[in-house]
Parts: sequence; C-alpha cells; structure tokens
Amino acid sequence: MKKILIIDDEVNVALLLSKFLTRNGFDVTTASTGSIGMEYLKNGDFNLVLCDFRLEDTDGREMLKNIKTQYPKTGVIIITGYSDIKMAVELIKMGAYDYITKPLYPDEILNTITKAIETHYALVEDKAVPASNDKSSRESKKQVFANEFVTGTSKVSKELTRQIELVAPTNYSVIILGESGTGKESVAKSIHLNSPRYNQPFIAMDCGSLTKELAASEFFGHEKGSFTGALYTKIGHFEMANGGTLFLDEVGNLSYEIQAALLRTVQERKVKRIGSTKEINLDVRIIIATNENLQDGIQKGKFREDLYHRFNEFSIFIPPLRERGNDIMLLADHFLKIANHELGRNVSSFSPEVVESFMSYRWQGNIREMKNVVRRATLLTEGTEITMKALPLEISNFKMPVFDYAPVAEMQEIRENRHDLKNAALEAEYETILKVLREVNFNKTRAAEILNIDRKTLYNKMKAINIK
Ligand SMILES: Nc1ncnc2c1ncn2[C@@H]1O[C@H](COP(=O)(O)OP(=O)(O)OP(=O)(O)O)[C@@H](O)[C@H]1O
Ligand SMILES: [Mg+2]
Repeated sequence: MKKILIIDDEVNVALLLSKFLTRNGFDVTTASTGSIGMEYLKNGDFNLVLCDFRLEDTDGREMLKNIKTQYPKTGVIIITGYSDIKMAVELIKMGAYDYITKPLYPDEILNTITKAIETHYALVEDKAVPASNDKSSRESKKQVFANEFVTGTSKVSKELTRQIELVAPTNYSVIILGESGTGKESVAKSIHLNSPRYNQPFIAMDCGSLTKELAASEFFGHEKGSFTGALYTKIGHFEMANGGTLFLDEVGNLSYEIQAALLRTVQERKVKRIGSTKEINLDVRIIIATNENLQDGIQKGKFREDLYHRFNEFSIFIPPLRERGNDIMLLADHFLKIANHELGRNVSSFSPEVVESFMSYRWQGNIREMKNVVRRATLLTEGTEITMKALPLEISNFKMPVFDYAPVAEMQEIRENRHDLKNAALEAEYETILKVLREVNFNKTRAAEILNIDRKTLYNKMKAINIK
C-alpha cells in the first residue's frame, strides 16, 4: 500500500483528505505541524507528502527543501490557499512534483497523486539517482523517465523513436494518434523531456472529463469572485505550462465554444484569466492526443478545422501493442520488474505458453492492459515463473482468429509505391477494412454491414489485399 503523509494545520482539511485517500486505497498519516511531519518522515518510507504551504511553525518552501535533501525518494505536492504562479514555478524547480490550490477537488487530487506515485516508483527503483536540488532533480526526472520508457526494438518502434527525436527539439505542435493505452501520454512526455523545455513544466490535461462549465476556467484560470463559486483565484493550465509543454488528452471531446477560445489563445499566444483584463504572454508548446478520428469530427462539424491545422504541425501514430512484435515481451519483462519491486516478489520469467499467448493476444487495452495483466499475474504467482494459471481468462482462452493481417512486408511494398493510384486506393481500402474488422472484433457479417458491401465481396476483398 502506498504511504502518504498529509501535513496541514487545518484539521478539517487534513481529516477530509485523509478519509478520501484512505477510501481510495492509500495508507495515510496526518501531521498538524512541520516538525511533527518531519518526525513521521524519520520513521516511515512515505511515497508522497502533501504539504500545506502555510504552516504554524514553518512554510512549504522550507519543508520541501528539507524533505528533498533528507528523503529524496519521497515526492512532494504543495497545497496552498491561493494561486501564485511564480511561487508554483519556483517550488517545481526546487523539486516539488506539483502544486495544487484550494479548494481541493477530489478527482484532481487523486489524479495528481496517482501520477506522482507512478513517477515515484521509478525513483525508488533507481537508487543511483540523486534528487537533491532543482537542476539535478530535473535531470534525474529525465533519467528516471528514460529508464521507465521502453523504447522497443521492433521496426515500428524504431520509426516511432525516430519521429520523437525528429520533432522533440522543435516547437511544433504535435498530434499523437493511437488506440487507448498505447502510450500517447508517455510519448508526449518523451517529446517534452527530449526538448529544450525539459526543465520546464509538463502539464497534462484530460479534456475528456472536462465539463462544459469548468472547461474555460481549467484552461484559462479565473480571478476570485469572477463568477458564483469562484472562491479562489485559479491558475489555468496554459499559465501553469508556461515555458514548458501543455499536453491535451482527448481533445475530440471539447465543445465548439471552447475550441474557439483555444484557437484564439494559441494564435495570439496570450491568455487572460476569466474576470481579469490582464493579458499574460504565453510560451507553451502544445501536444494533443486523441483516439478518435478528428477528421471525422471535422466532417461532422464537431471539431474546428482551423484548430486542427494549428495542432497538426506534426503527427505521430503509435501502433497498437499487438503489432509491435518483439516489443511485446520487452514490455512484459519491464512490467514484471516493476511489479516485483512494488509487490516485493521475485518472479523471474514467463512460461513459454504465456509468451505465446502474449504474442498472439489482441490487447485491446494495449500497453496499459498489459501492465495490469503482468501486475496481477505477479501477485498471483507463488514461484518464480508466471504460468497460464495466473492469466485472466480472456487471455488464456483467447484463440487467434482464422485470418490475420497482411504480412508486413507486403503492406510495406504497397506503401513504398503509394504514388501509384491503384496502390493508394488499395491501401485506403486495406486500412478501412482492417479498421472496421477490428472494431467489430473480426465479425465479418457486422463488418460487411458497416462497410456497406455484401459478405462475399468482403471475403474477396480480404483475399485480394491479403487479409487471411
Ligand atoms: N514505451 C513504454 N514503456 C513503458 N511503459 C509504457 C510505455 N508506453 C506506455 N507505458 C505505460 O502504459 C500505460 C498507458 O500509457 P499512457 O497513459 O501513456 O497511454 P495513453 O495512450 O495516453 O492511454 P489513454 O488512451 O487511455 O489515455 C502507462 O501506465 C504508461 O506508463
Ligand atoms: Mg492518455
């Protein structure tokens, strides 16, 4: 169980937070002063400290300095009652993982904590990494991420790495496309960490869960009292990311109005908090991710074409896990190592049957699904080898469909001759058919219906383009 220490002299806040986090599976300790907090830290390996900025006996800056020097492996999130971007940046430079302002929103906190802890694991794993002061802490974050991120050796991975290296040093906006769980956010972070902005903030924002009412203030921030319920000044994500990178996940879900406001901000490179007249200059690189087809959204009038073109200065497609060949077991080994560490186990390998089923399974949830499967299997394994018994039924019972995709080499040939109109048409057809087949789990009757052709034509086409 992950251990969290809350240091806050407002007993009610600490209590509520503690209850909420305990319900969400954390082992929580609370302290009402900085010195009590430091006492607790001496005796326990805390993964994370949530520390209020204003304490009776000290302040967040001092606490952060002490914790980072004495317990470099423990993550620190500072909570404050008011927004001050300069201070936020300063604290982050000093090694705070993040900075949150009151009022505290449960989902936001949980999200931040989960992410912080994910980063933190790697810190625990890599004992050689010091995390003492600002610059070296940023360097170490970069190093930690490099250790966490499996680059892969398959052909598609090499291409992915090449594209990341190509676009990272520029200021281009990037669209990252890929099915759910393929690693879009990880690739965005990798771009950020390989860019000259790496020691500035990387702010991720999940647009999919934004309500219409909250979206504007999340993006642009608001001044205290600018609308009913705006009890505190709030810094928007653009401002938080200033100097660094703003990663927008699931942009396809944003309302048309907010898209217009986004376009304005991106074009003018300036932001105004709601209720304020002061314009703040922005230097933010934008990376967006989507697992929907934005072109479709444009056609249906749901997504603004001008905004799409602003974002689409460069695009990267992350292939689904099932198409990543050798990477599959590389990733599985990596997750096994992490799971062993987290769970205190000593599982060293996967049985040959497990390897075989990992290689042929469909992995609809991609890398995220695999990470969970390996973790669960490690937990269930008593000995040193993961066997079929430890896999969930959907994997151990999984049978390969009778047909599969065209051999890579053949598609490659079509791709290389893409200016030949016949090949271009063939490729488009291939992609569409494959996409629909996957969507319906290879049910040919359903696929034929969606494609608006009869089953026989579908069979013929599958044969012609070599989907066996
Ligand atoms: N190359 C990689 N090496 C190691 N772990 C990875 C890699 N890519 C992704 N992961 C892990 O897989 C999980 C899913 O990755 P991520 O959140 O980046 O995917 P996503 O495409 O943004 O997912 P979603 O579509 O659900 O938003 C995370 O736990 C991440 O740490
Ligand atoms: Mg994501």
